[in-house]
Amino acid sequence: MASLRLTFAVVTAIVVACMHLPTTLAATGYVVGGANGWSMPQKPNHYENWTKGKRFIKGDAFFWVFKEGQHFVVEVPSKEAYDACNTTASTEVDGTGGLIEYLVDVKTHYYVCKYHCSKGMKVIIDIKAS
Ligand SMILES: *[C@@H]1O[C@H](CO)[C@@H](O)[C@H](O)[C@H]1NC(C)=O
Ligand SMILES: *[C@@H]1O[C@H](CO)[C@@H](O)[C@H](O)[C@H]1NC(C)=O
Repeated sequence: MASLRLTFAVVTAIVVACMHLPTTLAATGYVVGGANGWSMPQKPNHYENWTKGKRFIKGDAFFWVFKEGQHFVVEVPSKEAYDACNTTASTEVDGTGGLIEYLVDVKTHYYVCKYHCSKGMKVIIDIKAS
């Protein structure tokens, strides 16, 4: 628990630092899922609620915060696979927690927890060009 909190504190510091960098990119850093990080949703619509009202653009940074072994982030190729929690054709994103992923592909990304997808631990991140 202590290490999880530390990780989150460090990640939060990095996010805040990124947001204040005088770069030309208008990129934003996000901790996926908000304050609880990548965790089992307390409510079924937790991740939908987290993305609601946010506009994700090319170059935004996504931080996956969880304790290694508890969860695992994979990207699945389609809405169908996402809805069915079918991870057969998935690609690994983060298996250890704490990864920073900069999304530059302008498309809809479908992420699920390899272990808890059926429990609603999944999120759709739609990246716009600008
Ligand atoms: C949605 O998120 C907001 C703020 O993050 C929170 O106050 C609210 O309780 C959430 N609603 C649901 C249904 O989870
Ligand atoms: C799961 O996905 C794989 C690869 O895309 C596909 O071949 C398979 O038919 C899917 N399984 C189900 C139950 O839909």
